[in-house]
Amino acid sequence: MDIKDNLLTLADGNEMPQEGFGLYKVDGQATMNQAVKKAYEDGYRLFDTAQLYGNEQEVGMAFKQLAIPRDNIFVTTKVAEENQGYDTAIESVKESLHKLQMDYVDLLLVHWPIERSFFDTWRAFEEMKKEGLTRSIGVSNYQMIHLQYLATQANEMPVVDQIELHPLLTQKPLLEFNRQHQIVTQAWSPLGRGAVLNEPVLKDIAAAHNKSIAQIILRWHFQNGVSFIPKSVHEERIAQNADIYDFELNAQEMAQIDALNAYHRTGREPELVYEYNKQY
Ligand code: A2P
Repeated sequence: MDIKDNLLTLADGNEMPQEGFGLYKVDGQATMNQAVKKAYEDGYRLFDTAQLYGNEQEVGMAFKQLAIPRDNIFVTTKVAEENQGYDTAIESVKESLHKLQMDYVDLLLVHWPIERSFFDTWRAFEEMKKEGLTRSIGVSNYQMIHLQYLATQANEMPVVDQIELHPLLTQKPLLEFNRQHQIVTQAWSPLGRGAVLNEPVLKDIAAAHNKSIAQIILRWHFQNGVSFIPKSVHEERIAQNADIYDFELNAQEMAQIDALNAYHRTGREPELVYEYNKQY
């Protein structure tokens, strides 16, 4: 197996690469083109952007300039808090598609749960899927409570929940909940934004496998069965992050990494974003 043929099947029947390329903070057309080109050459097929990242136009331009066929890639974008609500969500996604120069995205996510438009936004998502603006619909930063609440009115449940997930924030109960409900968990900041890259335990495991710490963490995500979207603008790291399919962590190593959990968030607390109706 390699990154290109490593696919997960979602609850709606669509396939999604398990490993993707994160585009958060990839800015400037030259940097975007270089990163996307290298990632595509190395076999990445899932590209993850968001309205909030402010780079959808550059992403669309990169695919166009690199002449990457639409069918070869899986593109995710996310609706920002300010665009939530039934009509505004739909309008904003049309605008995103315009910027991306695409007729549809493969996966559309609600970026954060907010109280103000919680159900209206999801109704818009179900409609956009019907209309073909997106192939699959999902959420991001939803905790168990948000998913359970959504289930009280949803006709269709999210097929993906993209959450902050790394060795310092392992979120095991949420992973288990998602698994039981056929929701694929996808890790954002799979490397903990660099916060774990000096952990001694990880250094030892990395040395034992002759791999880097980043590769060990990504392999841990892979063996946990979650999807993950590492980001880098450095060619050597882009290649390295895709090169995790030729070794295996044993049960003891997996448990050692699980034990690093420190309930440490680099991002916002979803409960509070829900109540503030925005990222505070
Ligand atoms: P850079 O883009 O300068 O390479 P996360 O995905 O958890 O948010 O972490 C992304 C951060 O980790 C970025 O700052 C990225 O920096 C860095 N990074 C990505 N891949 C690697 C790697 N293989 N080794 C070290 N740092 C990495």
